[in-house]
Amino acid sequence: MDCLEGMKYIPDNSIDLLLTDPPYMISQENKRINRKNMDIKLDFGEWDHFKSEQEYEEFTKKWMALAYSKLKDGGWFMVFFDKNKICLLEKIAKELGITSKTIFVWAKTNPTPHFRRMNFISATEFIWMGTKGNMRMKNYQKQTEMYNYILYPNRSAYGETEHPTEKPVEVLKRIIKPVTIENDVVLDPFMGSGSTAVASIQLNRKFIGFEINREYYNMAVQRINIAMSQTKLLYGVIER
Ligand SMILES: C[S@@+](CC[C@H](N)C(=O)[O-])C[C@H]1O[C@@H](n2cnc3c(N)ncnc32)[C@H](O)[C@@H]1O
Repeated sequence: MDCLEGMKYIPDNSIDLLLTDPPYMISQENKRINRKNMDIKLDFGEWDHFKSEQEYEEFTKKWMALAYSKLKDGGWFMVFFDKNKICLLEKIAKELGITSKTIFVWAKTNPTPHFRRMNFISATEFIWMGTKGNMRMKNYQKQTEMYNYILYPNRSAYGETEHPTEKPVEVLKRIIKPVTIENDVVLDPFMGSGSTAVASIQLNRKFIGFEINREYYNMAVQRINIAMSQTKLLYGVIER
């Protein structure tokens, strides 16, 4: 369902981590690139189309305010965001009283090559991070696992679904782990193919998510079912 409706059912101050990948408003309608056996879609779908920047800003303010009200004190707020719009996110976060912490970088080891050679190759994605209040991390890992970047390939190497913006489960696990403990609750209002759900389940965290598109929702349910049966097996083995 629409997360703006769905999140109203969640009690306030009940979520340990908000981790999401909302629409970026970067789609170029009906555009694609066909070169050297590569077919790259520049239009992710209706869900990434907004009439104006103002409409996008209002939408972003609405979901962020609602999600923030669901977060517990000390909870983390992590959002994949378009590099050119990080200032907008910072501005809204400040208005809501979110403490800005860092920008985590996912550096892609196999970025999409450039054909026209007009710019540096875009090989990074940014995850803006803040907190409600300013408490210590629950599950600090060894120093090398606490760097605010990770090197990992893009979906042409790991992709499990047809979702155009599927994110890597390993990247998500890396950022979920230090800020939560087992049985904590993770919320993803824009779950797409369910990558945050899979990462949460694999780490034995609880998960709530919303997805408005039926096709993506079905992808997510399928992945969640597989992740849950595999995790049960894993924990079964450990218990014995
Ligand atoms: C960037 S994608 C998320 C991809 C996801 N991280 C993954 O790994 O598959 C954003 C998703 O939000 C969904 N969406 C857009 N507006 C929504 C809304 N108001 N409520 C719930 N889902 C929405 C879209 O259908 C899309 O699948």
